[in-house]
Amino acid sequence: MKIFIDSGDIGEIKEAAQMGAIDGVTTNPSLLAKAGKPIRQAILEICEVVDGPVSAEVLSTDTEGMLKEGRELAKLHPNVVVKIPLIVDGLKATRVLSSEKIKTNVTLCFSPAQAVLAAKAGATYISPFVGRIDDLAEDGMKLIEQLVTIYGNYDFDTEILVASVRHPVHFVQAALLGADVATLPFKVITQLAQHPLTDSGLKRFLEDAKKIPKG
Ligand code: E4P
Repeated sequence: MKIFIDSGDIGEIKEAAQMGAIDGVTTNPSLLAKAGKPIRQAILEICEVVDGPVSAEVLSTDTEGMLKEGRELAKLHPNVVVKIPLIVDGLKATRVLSSEKIKTNVTLCFSPAQAVLAAKAGATYISPFVGRIDDLAEDGMKLIEQLVTIYGNYDFDTEILVASVRHPVHFVQAALLGADVATLPFKVITQLAQHPLTDSGLKRFLEDAKKIPKG
């Protein structure tokens, strides 16, 4: 399973990379707004730190605009993946970019039917948003289960990238279901490493180590 970091913060991305935890990066306009840098500069900085797919989202909502932006983003660095919203114009843009061998991440997916269309259009990744589904008192992970089954039924090449992850349980469930990728906020990546028994066990070992006779 691949782990991406869901962040536009270069400090967080560097730290996660130092942990050896991440295989790629996803950004979105909200995350890049927090980073406070022009999009192209932010994406290039990220590409210097992480040698893996880096998703950068188009802002246009019409096919022609998405194609123009997508081609420009793809030229920035070979690792850039063009992130496209799952709307009809986005599917059209995905099909064209896919035919040009430009990688795409179709985002804002909330239903299995949408995910099938993205796969048919040639998306490299589909991003179902589990946390935002949970926010509506529904089960976001149910969508992942459905996508794993449907994509498996037809051997679709599109990778399932679990997005809008809010806590470690989302990550573990995604791994159990066999999702290809989970993109995690930095906080969740650090939470994955934590266990109170590790901390108390380490404390005890260090206390006992003081009682070892000096050689
Ligand atoms: C990543 O690709 C998505 O844009 C991101 O995971 C959305 O997360 P949120 O629902 O916490 O904003």
